[in-house]
Amino acid sequence: MSRAVRACIDLGALRHNFQQVRKAVGAAQILSVVKADAYGHGSQAVATALMDGDGFGVASVDEAVLLRELGVHKPIVVFGSFSSATEVPVLLQHDIAPMVHCREQLELLEQTSCSGQCDVWIKIDTGMHRVGFDEAEVGTIISNTQRCASVRRVLLMSHLANADDPEDPFSRQQIATFRRCTDGRGLDRSVANSAGVVAWPASHFDWVRPGVMLYGVSPLRSQTGTELGLRPVMTLKSEVIALKTVLEGEHVGYGGAWTAKRTARLAVVACGYGDGYPRHTAAKSAVLIDGRRAPIAGRVSMDLMSVDVSMHPNVALGDEVILWGSGLAVEEVADNAATIGYEILCGVTKRVPRIYIGEA
Ligand SMILES: Cc1ncc(COP(=O)(O)O)c(C=O)c1O
Repeated sequence: MSRAVRACIDLGALRHNFQQVRKAVGAAQILSVVKADAYGHGSQAVATALMDGDGFGVASVDEAVLLRELGVHKPIVVFGSFSSATEVPVLLQHDIAPMVHCREQLELLEQTSCSGQCDVWIKIDTGMHRVGFDEAEVGTIISNTQRCASVRRVLLMSHLANADDPEDPFSRQQIATFRRCTDGRGLDRSVANSAGVVAWPASHFDWVRPGVMLYGVSPLRSQTGTELGLRPVMTLKSEVIALKTVLEGEHVGYGGAWTAKRTARLAVVACGYGDGYPRHTAAKSAVLIDGRRAPIAGRVSMDLMSVDVSMHPNVALGDEVILWGSGLAVEEVADNAATIGYEILCGVTKRVPRIYIGEA
């Protein structure tokens, strides 16, 4: 028998969130970001549900090919670096657009003997200082790329470093730098990730690239997904597989890290760090059983965790448990684990089945 833990993926919520992006960005085109297996949600199901969007962003050529094989005919952009000559024929054959951030990549495109063409998104470093061309070289790079026989169309992009904080003036600076590099060139432009979509309208340009907000998670530090009108797409669920009474002073779990202050009733839940639930989580972390919060008691182990249900006498074997999602924001779980919702969602392991619900 399989374990009770499962990730329920609500495709109706996904489409709702996509519509929220649409409302926010007006005429800008939407490149739905489905890298890292659509932030753990399953890129094939997510791409199928978002097929009427304007394109997809992925991290690798392999991820892009997978989408083409699924029948995606819209533009696909590979954000992650391509670095070998063997990837160029694949890009051209499948009409996949690479994001080009260094001269070596451009040389690979120039040197190919393969026929076919693809679009190229030139990445401009406007201040993140991770990858991308500097302002001084942008003009030359654009001309060289436009001369390249395997390039159909050049688009210009950059990435915001601090957009999750609407008070941080750095995003305004980055947008100004991007404008200086790109104004008047007549090429499509793209800057906004989810935080740009929500908090920085000046970053919308021709294409926006939302990721995390499609999955119902807030891209801003100051607001939750629900406050932004988003609906959680993934709800991680499991079941109570045992009930146990411990007496005052008894310790629970590895290291005996939780001690009963009085006689307590514990429910054992089939979910642990082997499923992607963070092992390092604050003492105040809780799960939901029948809509009521039950605090985690002791350390999360690989397959199990214990929760204190002393306040909920009706909890029974087989009761459904929500680890995050509907009714318990993944942002809260992330905060308690000193991380971000992105990491929690991407960390759901392969052994957890994804169950798709809701109308696609
Ligand atoms: C280039 C690029 N654009 C857009 C995104 C989407 O970001 P977010 O999930 O914050 O919307 C990412 C994700 O990291 C990215 O690397």
